[in-house]
Amino acid sequence: MKANYSAWEVQRKDFPKDGSSEDKLRYLVSYAVLAPSSHNTQPWHFKIADGFISVELEQSRWLSVSDPDHREQTMSVGAAIENIILAAESFGIKLDITIKRVGLQIARLTINGSFKPKTDWTKIIKLRHSNRTKFSTDKLPSDLLSALKSIRENDVTVTLIQDHSQKEVIANLSVKATKQLFGQTSFRSELATWVRNNWTQKYDGMPGYSQGMPGPPSLLAKLIIKNMNVGADQAKKDAERLMEAPLLAAIGVKEHSIANWINAGRIYERICLVVTQHNHNTSGVSAAAVVDKTNHELQDQLRLKSIPVAILRIGKANKPAKHTPRHTAEQVSD
Ligand SMILES: Cc1cc2nc3c(=O)[nH]c(=O)nc-3n(C[C@H](O)[C@H](O)[C@H](O)COP(=O)(O)O)c2cc1C
Repeated sequence: MKANYSAWEVQRKDFPKDGSSEDKLRYLVSYAVLAPSSHNTQPWHFKIADGFISVELEQSRWLSVSDPDHREQTMSVGAAIENIILAAESFGIKLDITIKRVGLQIARLTINGSFKPKTDWTKIIKLRHSNRTKFSTDKLPSDLLSALKSIRENDVTVTLIQDHSQKEVIANLSVKATKQLFGQTSFRSELATWVRNNWTQKYDGMPGYSQGMPGPPSLLAKLIIKNMNVGADQAKKDAERLMEAPLLAAIGVKEHSIANWINAGRIYERICLVVTQHNHNTSGVSAAAVVDKTNHELQDQLRLKSIPVAILRIGKANKPAKHTPRHTAEQVSD
């Protein structure tokens, strides 16, 4: 196991059940780092004390071009928070969340009692990964659909889309948004910073294989992304993927706020985990929600009652996909 993939080796048996609260929280952060994040930036930092974790935005991993208002970053941190809360639940630990910006801190997770655990999320967190390969067009099982319908959190909505013409709206707007993003050299330069070859020893970023790229071309991926506008190709691929997925989920917020972005990130991860639990796959295809103009068009054309902040494809992948690198809990906490 290469060092930059060792974070995935976290073992349930290593939970320090007789340790201090601080030992337990430190262990739970091992699950936080396995969360999805935009471009696999892993833009989080954790300060662990006896009884609570202070969750911070890591400024050095912020995408200043594509994420000027820190929305994607905050959602990624929300996904990491969800992993901590669900991993804690798996060991019968109840964590309360307080969302409050103090300096770099955006949330605090505090131990507040214990209970009998129902689901072992730790196993599911370790299994989850994005799968950008083709999905089978078969309808989803009804138990997965009803599990997804019950997912909600405060001012965050989940719109499930199966209808062909609604999927077409998303696919067309995704094409428009992707072409606009890739048309900007600053966007491509920033993206290239996070693109890796398939033998990468770095602890973050996206290896070529995660986009379906074999080894040799992955060596050139950084250069190509930076210097050539591959927007039209990427847009076409994403539109095909959106159309063939049996289900899309649009995550929306009532209004933009740090709390709603954190909760939207929590919901993003909860959807991914519930889908993984049901032996199905997910991948994010959020461009239409990221670009302001297409975001408004999405709201109008789909008559959404909230502002879309992420779009997920959900289905059964035809091919397996691999985990991507991760910084270890020790590297991102103190
Ligand atoms: C808020 C958020 C938005 C994302 N948007 C996209 C997206 O638009 N397209 C995409 O391919 N992946 C997207 N992802 C997935 C990340 O690229 C992925 O989680 C990361 O590369 C790590 O890989 P893994 O999910 O396999 O662990 C998004 C993830 C998050 C948390």
